[in-house]
Amino acid sequence: MIFFITLGDSNIKIQHKKFQQMSNYHIKHLEEYFQIHRKSVRNPEGFWEEVAEEHFIWRKRWDKVLSWDFKKPEVKWFEGAKLNITENCIDRHLRIRGDKTAILFEPNDPSEEAEHISYQQLYERVNQFANVLKDQGINKGDRVCIYLPMIPELAISTLACARIGAIHSVVFAGFSATALATRINDSDCKMVIASDGSYRGSKTIDLKGIVDDALEECPGVETVLVAKRINSDIKMKEGRDKWLQPLLEEALTECEPEIMDAEDPLFILYTSGSTGMPKGMVHTTAGYMVYTAYTFKNVFQYRENDVYWCTADIGWITGHSYIVYGPLANGATTVMFEGVPNYPDWGRFWEVVAKHKVTQFYTAPTAIRALAKENLECVEKHDLSSLKVLGSVGEPINEEAWHWYNDNVGKKKSPIVDTWWQTETGGIMISPIPYLTPTKPTYATFPLPGIQLSLMDENGKEIKDNQVDGRLCIKFPWPSMARTIWGNHKRYKDTYFSTYENQYFTGDGALRDEVGYYRITGRVDDVIIVSGHNLGTAPIEDAINEHQAVAESAIVGFPHDIKGNALYGYVILKESGESRNHDNLRKEINQIITEHIGPIAKLDKIQFTSGLPKTRSGKIMRRILRKIACSETDNLGDTSTLLNPEVVQEIMDNVL
Ligand code: WT7
Repeated sequence: MIFFITLGDSNIKIQHKKFQQMSNYHIKHLEEYFQIHRKSVRNPEGFWEEVAEEHFIWRKRWDKVLSWDFKKPEVKWFEGAKLNITENCIDRHLRIRGDKTAILFEPNDPSEEAEHISYQQLYERVNQFANVLKDQGINKGDRVCIYLPMIPELAISTLACARIGAIHSVVFAGFSATALATRINDSDCKMVIASDGSYRGSKTIDLKGIVDDALEECPGVETVLVAKRINSDIKMKEGRDKWLQPLLEEALTECEPEIMDAEDPLFILYTSGSTGMPKGMVHTTAGYMVYTAYTFKNVFQYRENDVYWCTADIGWITGHSYIVYGPLANGATTVMFEGVPNYPDWGRFWEVVAKHKVTQFYTAPTAIRALAKENLECVEKHDLSSLKVLGSVGEPINEEAWHWYNDNVGKKKSPIVDTWWQTETGGIMISPIPYLTPTKPTYATFPLPGIQLSLMDENGKEIKDNQVDGRLCIKFPWPSMARTIWGNHKRYKDTYFSTYENQYFTGDGALRDEVGYYRITGRVDDVIIVSGHNLGTAPIEDAINEHQAVAESAIVGFPHDIKGNALYGYVILKESGESRNHDNLRKEINQIITEHIGPIAKLDKIQFTSGLPKTRSGKIMRRILRKIACSETDNLGDTSTLLNPEVVQEIMDNVL
């Protein structure tokens, strides 16, 4: 692995006066960053080849580092190479780190003992699981859906799929039966791996019941493997459902890794889009491995005896890249936490940090805001002196939350890495390098080496100046970019490569300051980030419109103290619905959303209205609805193109 701050000596001068108050130590390292970034731009192939040559096990070397065409779009990294990612994440470490803890499992209930899974044990358990998958008829290229809570089996089954070349599709275990079924069917999964249930704080959740409901709609699923977690009494469907434990016990602890091509798919992970169906982003093997390993090492400055903890769920990309693959590729100790921040009390995160002497802590702004609302004693009574780096991801971090995190958790000694990236990018794209890049609240700062950003204006031209904002694009491929949307390459092209020529469009707006730091200003499309969850407006509207009393609906986001954004729904009722009790209707609408998507997509406010502002072409003008929901009605902007301007006043008069 290249640890890039130690590379090269530099004579580049940092001109900007902002940097001149920095110590020589910092300036020297920042110069190195610029030098390495420039090198990666001048010769990207050479740069990534050098990273890939270090430390990984390749069964065969690549013939070509990169071929790409953003028009098609088609991107291939390390073509011709052969490898297995689990050999790199596990086998490679056995000789020197066999007894080192790979996964440190911290259960929901603090009185239950934490489990230290060493690299040797992980090797055996992944191989056993891989053998079970093979015995159950799973072959290379088959899709396996994993619907599990944050228990070791989640990481182990993911790696077991990768061991045999099966494509995993992890679905976050907070999604509803309908959402699960849609995802299973979209990628034709043959198998589902689930558990009897899950713990969530003081509650238990009947996961197997949700799976059973989902599978009513999924004729392609042949087998369900069920892990025992809560020991609940569940129904097992004869011939389809099998308890995992007895199968594992009989399985051998050796399983030869399937040798994969660099561009073979490793996994599918669904993310919301601005239209109905979720997008199954496809990530491939070699590039994803190289990039997540490289960025993990550098962004978190991981050193051999560190204990790294990312609080995300493996059901999201953050967990794939920075709980499982990135850390394990570095031989790190990675904490897997089953619980929630407020159980048994709001001090739980800090208790875990102190207990395991966590050195790097990575969480989301929504969690920070919730924690900051609680009594400071919850933080202060725990010893957080082990912490060296704090991370933030998922949405813009507001200034207040940034300072609270910096002051009370980091005690102004641990730099905050505000990391910007996406499910589609596979790994972190923009982030400070701790102890190197001076941090600035709300700024993700510089692109990582290898990443070439651009800001585009509304006419599709690249903006070269600083102190401007624009639409954030990426103009050159990077190894961990998603290669396609499962089963729908056209949608991949339309969504990411058609807005601007020869650019990957992120869907985010960004501002570049006077020294070149980036600040992400938020989504510029119909995706709303609620508590760090990416929600498309269309699927929620589709769900609401299923209600028999609803004629039409539109969703917008409005600012919320803890969630960042909350959802505001404008709903037009059918005649039959108008006489109904509105509070009951609101409950029913949220119930439908919970069934179709999950509780994360529930609306905070629902306003019934006789119409929605529309353009002459019939498009809902969300901009106006957003302003009304955010109480920014002083200047609604141009309403002259509206078909029905009179409805705006009605909506304003009745705003909630
Ligand atoms: C969207 C991607 C990749 C991690 C989890 C989210 C927003 C993510 C930041 C940040 C401002 C951020 C963007 C992005 N986002 N990180 N540090 N600052 N915004 O993955 O669900 O694919 O969502 O999350 O809007 O496009 P995701």
